[in-house]
Order: sequence, then C-alpha cells, then structure tokens
Amino acid sequence: MRKAFVAGNWKMNLTKNEAGVLARGLAAKAGVFGGVEVGVIPAFVHLDAVRAGLEGSPINLGAQDVYFEKNGAFTGEISTAMLLDMGVKCVLVGHSERRHVLGETDALCNKKVHAVINAGLTCILCVGEKIEERQANQTFNVCKTQLVEGLKGVDKSRAGQLVIAYEPVWAIGAGLTATKEQAQEVHKYVRGELAKIFDQATADGLRIQYGGSVKASNAGELMSQPDVDGALVGGASLKVEEFLGIITAAASKR
Ligand code: PGA
Repeated sequence: MRKAFVAGNWKMNLTKNEAGVLARGLAAKAGVFGGVEVGVIPAFVHLDAVRAGLEGSPINLGAQDVYFEKNGAFTGEISTAMLLDMGVKCVLVGHSERRHVLGETDALCNKKVHAVINAGLTCILCVGEKIEERQANQTFNVCKTQLVEGLKGVDKSRAGQLVIAYEPVWAIGAGLTATKEQAQEVHKYVRGELAKIFDQATADGLRIQYGGSVKASNAGELMSQPDVDGALVGGASLKVEEFLGIITAAASKR
C-alpha cells in the first residue's frame, strides 16, 4: 500500500514572517493528518524560518529547486549540501514553471535528479503536458519523454527516494483541474512507463501525486482514483484550513 503524500508548494509567495506563521499553523494540526505524509516547500530564503515553525512536527521540509553541482562559481544557485544543512528532506525537480518559464530542459532535470538522489534526499520529479500538447493528443508522449529523460541512469534501488508529480500545465494556477478520469488515465500511464523504466513491483511502490488547482473541494474525487497517491498543491497550500482539507481527503485513501 502506498502512503499518500501531500506537499504544498508555496512558490514565490509570503514574507518570512508569514511563512513561519503558516508553518506553525500547520504543525499545530499535525494530529489530524491521519497517516498522510505531508510536506511544505517554501522559498529558499524562508527555509530556516519554516524549519523553526515545523519543529517537533512530522511535516517534511522541501525545496523548490536545486543546482546539480556540489559547490563553486555558480552565482545564484543552491547546492544539495546547503539544503541538507537547512533540514530539507525533499526537492522538486522540473516543476512546470522551471521548465516553461525558466527554460529548464530534460537534460538539466536529469542532472538535478541525480544530484538530489545522490545527496540522500527525496526527489519529486514533475511531469505534465501543455494545453496545446493535450489538444494534439501528445499528453502521453510528453510525459513519457519527461520520465525517460528525467530518470535516465537512475537505478531502481533508488526508487524509494523518488516521487512523481503529474501536473498538467494547463491546470496549474488556472482554477482548472483535470477531471478524476483524466488524472487517473495519465497516472496509470505514468505507472506503466515507470514499470518499463524500472520494473512492475518498483512502479507499484512509487507514489504519483496529482497537481494543478487541487483544492479541498476537489481533492476527494481526485484522491479516490487508484493511481493518485496524493497531491502537489500550490495556491491552496497557502491557507491552513484549505490545505488540511486536502490532507483529510488523502487520508481517506489509506
Ligand atoms: P496550483 O499549483 O495548485 O496553484 O495549481 C500546483 C503546482 O504548481 O504545483
């Protein structure tokens, strides 16, 4: 049985003080998580404040990105060692905003996946199609390429450090959500591709989160799908009650 994993991607939002308040608010509610693994992913500059706010709670601290080199002359970048030093447990790689706003390629994502895994961190690799790709029936192809290229060279013995997030780009921040059928169809496809990359047992053990305008009001039906193992949440993760509603929906999966 896969343990549901709900992570809140706070993106480029909040002040340090607001991030600390949100972290403390969530930590205070950890008693109602119902066995769901929960993570929050603040901006780099808020990691320390959020770590302090989460202290004593089971909530994992995550980072939104990382650079693949260990250290050196890479102005503006952040290393895995820096993230470990801040108490980070999981790292997003290839979020659609990194791919489509900042121009990250599958080859760069692959280097980041290796860096994260080699550092002993959990990697949440994000995949998903743009609206024009869905309309051109390219959804599966796009996800397949992002998986195959992103996971190139990753040994199946490392699969325990991997989580996949399927996030249709057209649903992110748009108020549009994939229907539960659309989500399940792609999640099932992704699991099938993971079985080809690793093997069936490994694929069956991997968690695949859904992301894209997940809210408390739509989380229940998305989480009801057999291959949806949690959520990667943007906007709705900035409010304690809304995020808790999503966690509660995921708890019903167990
Ligand atoms: P959203 O963002 O929930 O605001 O659509 C999801 C994500 O980008 O991970």
